[in-house]
Amino acid sequence: MRTAKRGSQIYSLLVKYSTQNTSWVAERLKGMPSKIHQQLSSGDKELEECSKYLFDGRGKAIRPTITLLMAGACSYHCAGSCKISPAQETLAMVTEMIHTASMAHDDVIDQASIRRGKPAMSEIWDRKKTILAGDFILSRGSMALAQIRNTRVVELLSTVIDNLVHGELMQLESCRDEQGRFNHYLQKTFMKTASLMAYSCQAAATLASEDDDDLHQIAYHYGENVGMAFQLIDDLLDFKSTSKDTGKPTAVDLRLGLATAPVLFAAKQYPELNELIDRHFTRTGDVEMAQDIVHRSDGLTLTHQLADEHCSKAVDYIQKITTSPEQLELIKITQDILHRNK
Ligand code: FPP
Ligand code: MG
Repeated sequence: MRTAKRGSQIYSLLVKYSTQNTSWVAERLKGMPSKIHQQLSSGDKELEECSKYLFDGRGKAIRPTITLLMAGACSYHCAGSCKISPAQETLAMVTEMIHTASMAHDDVIDQASIRRGKPAMSEIWDRKKTILAGDFILSRGSMALAQIRNTRVVELLSTVIDNLVHGELMQLESCRDEQGRFNHYLQKTFMKTASLMAYSCQAAATLASEDDDDLHQIAYHYGENVGMAFQLIDDLLDFKSTSKDTGKPTAVDLRLGLATAPVLFAAKQYPELNELIDRHFTRTGDVEMAQDIVHRSDGLTLTHQLADEHCSKAVDYIQKITTSPEQLELIKITQDILHRNK
């Protein structure tokens, strides 16, 4: 009920302001791959080619999109103009570089063969070179970030890299205790996905106004909640969508032995799933049985509901700042995330 009412309120706000536009964001995003390519120039031509490979302008670019919009929304809130600074634009670029570096490493860990609808880097170059290319992207992203000359922003983005590593480790070490599983999953989800969005939004707000702690917190919590919703929907899509939609294979999490929100919710209704979770779906037929139980259970609906609650919280936070086209676009993005199919 609360969600339905909230949904209609958001809709009327968006209709009211639909004449305003934020096309400057699309323009900046269009120029981003070539700016990243410039950062990745190297005397080693193979390293250069490998590290540029995933920056082809075909990704969702959700992290730089949110960072640019948050930068515009905060600048409007503080100074009455959505004009963003070169530092904020660099920050947005760095978010994409950190994310893509982590994808290069993640695809090696997960032995993935497809990323963004094309062969994963390690299918073309070997695993060692893929790891080194990930390191190289991260190093060039860090250099670009340092050139902003703002130590607080460097500290925030360094925390993200720390969280990414710990999130990935938490995923490797699954939780044995049935009661603690959901909290372990939520904490891991924050580290792996929400942290980058939370701290990038906070950094964008910091660059808009160094001393406005309330604004920094609003931006952080918006990003945190959007990030949690984004990953919950990702975990849902692993059960629901086809590889044609997502550009990557489906039921990957189960095959990797991972129990995500749909399975954890389903296990509350069908406790026989716990045995399969404990043995990481390793016996013949486990993956198919888990898929079947999840589809019969309320697991998918409850996962969607939890994502919806995070989107509502994100909207509550961002509504605290001055209305602007960018702020409204940040609200709209919560709905796009909730209803995405890829
Ligand atoms: C994707 O998860 C993985 C992440 C969001 C984080 C990966 C982080 C690391 C490998 C740590 C190293 C970090 C850096 C910065 C080099 P997923 O496998 O659930 O998503 P997918 O389906 O898109 O592969
Ligand atoms: Mg993966």
